[in-house]
Amino acid sequence: MTDLTTRYLGLTLGHPIVASSSPLTGSIDSLLALQEAGAAAVVLPSLFEEQVEHDSLALDHGFEVGAEFNAETYGGYFPELDDYNAGDEEYLDVLVAAKRELTIPVIASLNGTSEGGWTSYATSLQDEGADALELNIYLVAADPDATSLEVEDRYLRLVESVRSAIDIPLAVKIGPSFSSPVNMARRLAAAGADALVLFNRFYQPDIDLGTLDVSPDLVLSSPAEMRLILRWIAIMRGRIDAELAATTGVHDADGVVKLILAGADVTMMTSALLQHGPGHIATVLDGVRDWFTEREYTSLDQARGSVSQASVPDPTAFERANYMRTLLSYAPE
Ligand SMILES: Cc1cc2nc3c(=O)[nH]c(=O)nc-3n(C[C@H](O)[C@H](O)[C@H](O)COP(=O)(O)O)c2cc1C
Repeated sequence: MTDLTTRYLGLTLGHPIVASSSPLTGSIDSLLALQEAGAAAVVLPSLFEEQVEHDSLALDHGFEVGAEFNAETYGGYFPELDDYNAGDEEYLDVLVAAKRELTIPVIASLNGTSEGGWTSYATSLQDEGADALELNIYLVAADPDATSLEVEDRYLRLVESVRSAIDIPLAVKIGPSFSSPVNMARRLAAAGADALVLFNRFYQPDIDLGTLDVSPDLVLSSPAEMRLILRWIAIMRGRIDAELAATTGVHDADGVVKLILAGADVTMMTSALLQHGPGHIATVLDGVRDWFTEREYTSLDQARGSVSQASVPDPTAFERANYMRTLLSYAPE
């Protein structure tokens, strides 16, 4: 049987499937259910800059869950959205309880965009026992006066300030919108990121045609969204001095296998778990183990990155060369 052991953020994980930050990782009941189902580690929901700076989360976390979401499917583990991340003290309580109750690693999460007092929470999270910290920089660069370099400097300064506040490993979760994502990834690693979590899924606002309000409407991911992640992980593998975690569109065993072959150190799931419940991890894990075992891989390390850009015979397949071929391959149904 293939040894699925994986190293991530200084931790030894039993396999590469992590439950990413979401309401499912926000209560002890659902955290225990995720552990029971076999999650290798969990990332807690984020503590938001807005929560710490203003001690209230006016944005209702910015999320309203779409119609495809069905609370029945995972037996009521989903906390009320109103209770999701109520405040910084409650956050620390969840972290302390998670560390007490779980045997798998617990990664805390901070979410913000500016340097400031709120980053000192990184130290509190470390002090309360977080095994590692994920810093989610969810920045919508909408200021026409801000140049790309200025925006990027903001990311780097934020990473440096959090890095200097803690000793535990640091992962940085970013979106894909950079002119040169690989160069940016390198600079984030140089600024102190031990891992990069690729990529943040930007929740797109909608317009309600009845009220003309701009409405938040969270649509869960689909497996096709994984392709963006696959490309950039394949391109970054071996070129960045940081581990690579894949988030967005990981729904099944095939997705996990592809991302490992492309070069991901770990893969993360939220939407699929919200749709199918924590037990889905066990199904995916069985499929992943079967795939690698049937092909006689001794370890995941043997497979990791074997279909990265640096390893394939035609590296241009991850770049523009495939563009024409892809367009020509389209066949109407
Ligand atoms: C309801 C909901 C809440 C989320 N909350 C957070 C959060 O607090 N912090 C964070 O970094 N990501 C958060 N995410 C993003 C997920 O961690 C994940 O990156 C994203 O959903 C893409 O992965 P998926 O395709 O597996 O869903 C949330 C996602 C959902 C659906």
